Amino acid sequence: MTTRRELIAAGAAIAGALLAGCSDDEATSSGPADEVTVAKDTVPVGGGLVVDGGYVVTQPEEGEFVAFSSRCTHQGCTVSEVRPDGVFCACHGSMFALNDGTPVQGPATDPLVRATLTESGSDLILTP
Ligand code: FES
Repeated sequence: MTTRRELIAAGAAIAGALLAGCSDDEATSSGPADEVTVAKDTVPVGGGLVVDGGYVVTQPEEGEFVAFSSRCTHQGCTVSEVRPDGVFCACHGSMFALNDGTPVQGPATDPLVRATLTESGSDLILTP
């Protein structure tokens, strides 16, 4: 015999599966890691990197580094790549400016969230 508690649990599992199905198989991300170190010389000038741990670091001008959360402000996907014209999210095509993370192409309307970047010799230390 199925108990009421089992039915509720089964319903919750089905609801969770349905909600997951609504995400278009997007690669959603959680918040950034506490601290990630990136070598400066791995960040291209006029471009950048999506870094494991939930960050994007860019170098819009030589020697000018900027860090952001890699979580897209549209629906939470991890941004896909950094292109010469911006930080691109493949989920729905948003693009964000390299220098300040403002959306230059929708559907995102909010800028990428800035991360803290500390220069340490030849490295960049990224923190939320
Ligand atoms: S989640 Fe990035 S464009 Fe939609």
